[in-house]
Amino acid sequence: MSSNPLAPSWLAVPDDANALAEAVWSRNATRSAAGELEIAGVAATDLVERFGTPVYVVDEADVKARATSIRESFDREFARVGSAAKVYYAGKAFLSTEVARWVTDAGLNIDVASGGELAVALAAGVDPSRLGLHGNNKSLREIDRAVGLGVGAIVIDSEIEVSRVAEAAVRHGRVQPVRLRINSGVHASTHEYLATAREDQKFGIPLADAPAIVALIRAEPSLTFLGLHSHIGSQIFESDGFAEAARRLFALHAQLLADGPVPELNLGGGFGIAYTSVDEPLAIDEVAVRFADIVAGGAAELGIPVPIVAIEPGRSVVGPSTTTLYTVGTIKDVLVEGANVRKYVSIDGGMSDNVRPSLYGADYSVRLANRSSDAEPALVRIAGKHCESGDIVVHADYLPGDVRPGDIVAVPATGAYGWAMASNYNYLGRPPVVAVIDGEARVIVRGETEEDLLSRDMGVAR
Ligand SMILES: Cc1ncc(COP(=O)(O)O)c(C=O)c1O
Repeated sequence: MSSNPLAPSWLAVPDDANALAEAVWSRNATRSAAGELEIAGVAATDLVERFGTPVYVVDEADVKARATSIRESFDREFARVGSAAKVYYAGKAFLSTEVARWVTDAGLNIDVASGGELAVALAAGVDPSRLGLHGNNKSLREIDRAVGLGVGAIVIDSEIEVSRVAEAAVRHGRVQPVRLRINSGVHASTHEYLATAREDQKFGIPLADAPAIVALIRAEPSLTFLGLHSHIGSQIFESDGFAEAARRLFALHAQLLADGPVPELNLGGGFGIAYTSVDEPLAIDEVAVRFADIVAGGAAELGIPVPIVAIEPGRSVVGPSTTTLYTVGTIKDVLVEGANVRKYVSIDGGMSDNVRPSLYGADYSVRLANRSSDAEPALVRIAGKHCESGDIVVHADYLPGDVRPGDIVAVPATGAYGWAMASNYNYLGRPPVVAVIDGEARVIVRGETEEDLLSRDMGVAR
C-alpha cells in the first residue's frame, strides 16, 4: 500500500498497524494471543471496564527499571573517571507520592519546581536533604519553607535570590547549599543545538555575570556554593549540545576554583525518548558514557579535578512508562483539498489530558488496544473532544482502516508532561492514573469527578 500524501514524510505505512514498536511502548506492553493490548499482564479492556476512559496507565516496573538504570549507568561511568554522579528526578514531568517513592527507592533525588511539588515530595516522606528546588521566580514563602525544611540544594536563578535565600538561612540558623543557574547560550532540541552568546530566555545568569554573583554567594556565611547549573532544553537525542554547554561552564568552573571550592557541576536534564517509531534516542547507558567522557575530558584539559556531576532527567524516567487509553466516539473521513482522505478519529479526552501536541506540535503514535485487525492501514488523526480545532492528540499515524466507534485506542509514551500539564478545559475532569504491575492494577491518583469540578465554585447552592 502506498503512503497517504497527507502523511508527514517521516511516517511510513506500517507492515503491521497492530505492531508495538519496542522503543515507544513501556517494557511490559504486549499483545495477547487474542490480539488485545496488555500492560504488565492487565488487559486494556479490563482496565477500561474498571477505570473508564480516558485513563493514564503507568507500567510501574518500567519507571522503577528506568530510574535504577539511569542511576547505575551514571554511578558506573563517573566512578570510571574518578568521580561520582547525583541523579535528581525532575518531578515536573510527573509527580505523585507513589512516583516519588519509586524513584527515591531507586536511589534518585528529586527536583521540585514549586511549593506544590515540594508538598507532594514531603507527603511521600522524601527526606528534604534529597530535594533540589528550582524556579526563576520562587516566592519568598517557597524559599523560606525550603530552607526551613533543610532542602539539599536551591538553584539560584537571579541576583536578587542570593540575599533572599541567605536571609532565610539566617532566620532558620542553617547554612544552605546553593547552585547558580547559568544561561550558557546553548539551546538543544532533538538533533540540533544552537549556540549564541546568550540564549533569549528567562532562566539563569549570563556567563559573564556569574563570577560576581558567585562572589556574592561566597560572601554570605549562611550559604555554601555547590557549583554551576545548566539545563539546555528537552527531548535531546545527541550529546553535542551538552558538550558545548559543559565546555562553556567548565571555563567558568575552573576560574571559580581559584577562589574557593566548586565541588559539583549540574548539567540538567532533557534526554530524549521515542514518541514515534522513527525516534532514535541515545540509550541511557550511552548518555552516561558520553557525559563522563565530556566531563573528564574537560577537566583534564583545564587541569582541574573531575567534579561530581548532577543530572536532572524527567521525561526519560517516566515518559515511556505510561499509555493513555481512550474510547473512540466519532469518525469522519475528511477529503482534504478534494484529493486525499484523512480519517479524523475523535476520542473522549484531548488537550486537557495531553496538551503537548497542541502546545508545541509534539508527535505521538496510536494503536488499537481492544483488538487487532488485518484491515488495510488508514492515515488517522486522533482528535480530542474540546472546542478547539487544534485539539489534536496524534497528528498522524496509521491505524487499521476498520477502526470504529467504541474501539479503545492507546497512545504510548504519555508519562511525562501529560498528567502534569493536564487541565480542566471544558470542565473535563482530569483522568485517573492507574499503576499496573504483575497483573494487578491500582489507582495512584484518582480521576476528578463533577463534584470535584464544582467544589470550588462558591456560587453553587449547598
Ligand atoms: C531545570 C530543568 N531540569 C530538568 C528538566 C527535565 O527535563 P526532561 O524532562 O526533558 O528530562 C527540566 C525541564 O523542563 C528543567 O527545566
